Amino acid sequence: MSSTLDFEITRNERPASAAERERVLADPGFGRHFTDHMVTIRYSADRGWHDARLEPYGPIPMDPASQVFHYAQELFEGLKAYKQPDGSVVTFRPYMNAARMNRSAHRMAMPEIPEQLFVDAIELLVRTDKDWVPDTEGHSLYLRPFMFATTRALGVNSPADEFLFAVIASPSGLYYPRGIKPVSVWLSQNYTRAAQGGTGEAKFGGNYAASFAGQAEAVEQGCDQVVWLDAVEHRWVEEVGSMNLMFVYGSGAQARILTPALTGTLLAGVTRDSMLKLAPDLGIPAEEGKISIEEWQSGCASGEITEVFGCGTAAIISPVGRVKGADREWTIGDGEPGEVSMRLRGELVGIQYGTRPDPYGWVHRIV
Ligand code: COI
Repeated sequence: MSSTLDFEITRNERPASAAERERVLADPGFGRHFTDHMVTIRYSADRGWHDARLEPYGPIPMDPASQVFHYAQELFEGLKAYKQPDGSVVTFRPYMNAARMNRSAHRMAMPEIPEQLFVDAIELLVRTDKDWVPDTEGHSLYLRPFMFATTRALGVNSPADEFLFAVIASPSGLYYPRGIKPVSVWLSQNYTRAAQGGTGEAKFGGNYAASFAGQAEAVEQGCDQVVWLDAVEHRWVEEVGSMNLMFVYGSGAQARILTPALTGTLLAGVTRDSMLKLAPDLGIPAEEGKISIEEWQSGCASGEITEVFGCGTAAIISPVGRVKGADREWTIGDGEPGEVSMRLRGELVGIQYGTRPDPYGWVHRIV
């Protein structure tokens, strides 16, 4: 491993026993269990990135005046490690996550982390805790790199100058226990997720905190997920829950997909980007554009729009079956997972789990 820093290694002296690990791996859920170790790396304006460690997973002592507690200066990433048929372990496009973390860092006035250091941290953690990578089909080791301001100061006039970057790992099953059963979605008019010039395209924890009320409203309305509309006209479709959205027009050889363009308010998803590259190679033209709720509804009524799905690292693909708003409600296709959605899902999952060739060089072998 060629690293930009040497990691100090402190092994967990009380790792989970093989039996405990097996018990967790039998029913991991999502983001509920964590492996034996974590990585931490500190940053200060005068020393840059330093004090890189692999250490036992556990609490991080924090000063109560740390800026992250007061001003939410935080960001995170999400990617997965997958067990391959030959027993090796890979991750998927980790340099894309590193690059996105640095774009988020720029928006949040936080330091960039060298991409190689980001990837080295992930590799070290996965290599150390490789026994936690699930064997079960569809399961993976979810990796959560994150960074936050540790500067001890309540003033907001001078930017934070001390930060902690960390990576933790969580053996995970399906994000939605219901699997690929289509979700119903609520068109939120009361809340918006992001506005031009805001933080919508950063993977910033506050975007997610601000989405919880909209998600709660969706559940009150009997829906599974919230659809985010633009902040100005409340009619242009942006995202669903924490995922990007894909619209399938037509079917069979005529199928094509459209996803809302990255206007600065949407997250540039790695799965979204992968779909935009995979689909055309499967003969399904893919474009980025704009779609309003009226066009979505009329497209479904005329049969032009045949499938809609959310996509993201955690859930991969989540078909949308039904849409509900304050004054409208409609079904997409027959409300069941569509052929194009399932085909794209199968191709992507095949590349990630090593059951299909990877002509793109997306798979990054770790161990
Ligand atoms: C993803 O779709 O990968 C996400 O960002 C979900 C995560 C917040 C749990």
